Amino acid sequence: MATDCSSLATFDTKWKQSFRRRLLTWYARHARDLPWRKSSNPYRVWVSEVMLQQTQVETVKAYFQRFMKAFPTVKKLAAADEQEVLRLWEGLGYYRRARGLHAAAQQIVTEHGGRFPRDVTTLQTLPGIGRYTAGAIVSIAFDERAPILEANTIRLFSRLIGYRQDPTKSVGQKVLWQTAEEVLPRKDIANFNQALMELGSLVCKPSNPDCKRCPVASLCVAYESGAQASVPMSTKKTKFTNINEAAVVVRKNGQVLLRQCAEDERWAGLWDFPRFALESEGPLFVRDELIAKVQTQTGVTIKPGRLLKTIKHGVTRYRITLDCYEASYSSGKLKRTVDKTLRWCAMKKLNELPLSSTGRKIADFCR
Ligand code: ADE
Repeated sequence: MATDCSSLATFDTKWKQSFRRRLLTWYARHARDLPWRKSSNPYRVWVSEVMLQQTQVETVKAYFQRFMKAFPTVKKLAAADEQEVLRLWEGLGYYRRARGLHAAAQQIVTEHGGRFPRDVTTLQTLPGIGRYTAGAIVSIAFDERAPILEANTIRLFSRLIGYRQDPTKSVGQKVLWQTAEEVLPRKDIANFNQALMELGSLVCKPSNPDCKRCPVASLCVAYESGAQASVPMSTKKTKFTNINEAAVVVRKNGQVLLRQCAEDERWAGLWDFPRFALESEGPLFVRDELIAKVQTQTGVTIKPGRLLKTIKHGVTRYRITLDCYEASYSSGKLKRTVDKTLRWCAMKKLNELPLSSTGRKIADFCR
């Protein structure tokens, strides 16, 4: 194999044969028994791959099984209410993925007669399906010869070819997609692509890769030069910003006040308690701010109560300190919104609605 970072990697036939044979032999012995591997149905492959983007395998298992029970086919998913889909996704994060799945299922039913397109180009016209997801669906479900590149394989290929530049930049992406294409065998693509991800996940880990147990260590440029700890290069460290927010549990006759997050908000489509940035300090000022901001957000006037709890959580680059206050309804009507994004909800119905992640925590402790 020849590599230099400005050009693309090339592999000779013997190298490729050795790589494929070692990888597939390893996979036959070490593949995990995961729920989505029990069948090659494209719908199941698709749902699992979308869930696995940004979420750990162990977390995905239970979500995947619940989702399949509720929506066993693409038609069932297309016919579901979006709120139901979001409720089953609750806790997985990145809710745009769930809304994309739902919208794409509807498109598959209306535009493709309920059948999965078998080619990557058509698949990529569906919401939420990019080159990786399309490649994973056609290769795993239909054994089509399509490459894949996701977090596990970006790391694996970077080490394999000793790619020391930033793998997330366009040059890096080009080099790594080219590598993914070059190593693909002619057949058994479903196993091959899954084996790559499995090796990346179990052996070629982000830190402390287990090179002693790696079937392709002798073919790996990073291993040969002892550079596996510094390849791939770490990309920019996130600079965190601290912010203070308040959430208010407004009670009225056994009900609480909720608002649905708008399209341009983080939890679009999910429900949350009235929440806003908290600017003032000191109990009296905070009290005035809670009254004013709940009034602006919902139209009702409240009588603030005690601080129930402070939750610290992180979202993307924000470190949020969320003060959760109790309050009782005092006067006023809910503001009219076109799509009814404000409502009173009986405490016992909170389980039926999809809530933001901190919204669920608050619901659990304010009962
Ligand atoms: N990560 C993303 N897709 C995966 C898969 N199919 N198997 C294991 N890990 C994955």
